[in-house]
Amino acid sequence: STPFILDTDTAQDDCVAILVGLLDPAADLRAITMVAGNVGFAQQVRNAWMTLNVADRLDAVPIFLGAQRPLMREWVSAENVHGDGSGGLSIDDSGLEAQAENAVDAMLRITAEQPGEVSIVAIGPLTNVALAAIRDPEFPKRVKSLYIMGGSNNGRGNITAAAEFNFYVDPEAARTVFEAGFADVVVVPWAPLTLRDAVFTKDRIAQLAGIGTPLARFVERVCRGTLAFDESVGIPGSTHPDSLTAALLLHPELITAEAPYAVDIETSSELTRGYSAMSWGVHGLEPNARVIEAVDGDAFFRYICDLVSQLTQP
Ligand code: BDR
Ligand code: CA
Repeated sequence: STPFILDTDTAQDDCVAILVGLLDPAADLRAITMVAGNVGFAQQVRNAWMTLNVADRLDAVPIFLGAQRPLMREWVSAENVHGDGSGGLSIDDSGLEAQAENAVDAMLRITAEQPGEVSIVAIGPLTNVALAAIRDPEFPKRVKSLYIMGGSNNGRGNITAAAEFNFYVDPEAARTVFEAGFADVVVVPWAPLTLRDAVFTKDRIAQLAGIGTPLARFVERVCRGTLAFDESVGIPGSTHPDSLTAALLLHPELITAEAPYAVDIETSSELTRGYSAMSWGVHGLEPNARVIEAVDGDAFFRYICDLVSQLTQP
């Protein structure tokens, strides 16, 4: 199985990514590390904890708390999209316990215990990953693969015209990470990939509901949490870039097209803050990432359906 750390700003699709790490037999999820992003920090931690609880894995994976704001900027929320990030489910958090160790320390320690073995799946702003790389320049060399959900490779943003949320919130962190010398960086962009291949339409959400297990009902409820927003802006369902990113680490056979790119992030302009410049061969730049261009979206949805068909103690 594949050992990895999941770095997350847990709201809707992050919850599903956590389920991938907990329920897929190919996954060996070592840690959940929390970073400032989608919704309030304490609420994100509740959402992650709730997901462990729903999957009956409370003792299986430790939660570590990391950066509660970006490196140099004020935190920007996406609560207009996500609400509380749980579809109103994460109310009872009695028993919630996070680790005393900081998330960045945990990343450094876990990768030092098994250099070259452990991957990182980063599905929120890149603040924790950047801090780890700044603290220890050897850290990027110890990470097997770094899978990043962020950016767009057609210039289409979701928080501004130019930028995708994760890179917009902490562009300095994203830039630091792309310059840090990780051996293998895989980028799962928001557009066009997610919008085409990882949308759960109303029909698909109804299919999920029809599975009827507690996990399927949970994912259905979580998906419904963003539908009103998605529809209001013309997105045909709930978007799932984060669980896709985790799934691609475990099942690269879902990838149908990828290419090397030189990726850099805009940090100085206000208009294009967080824009991901993804340069292909013609510009003569050295590639620093593999960018996923297409996946088998039907197979990905079937994969999520199979995962949540499992029975757990609710
Ligand atoms: C990213 O921001 C959040 O809405 C999602 O969890 C995803 O990580 C997409 O821009
Ligand atoms: Ca996320």
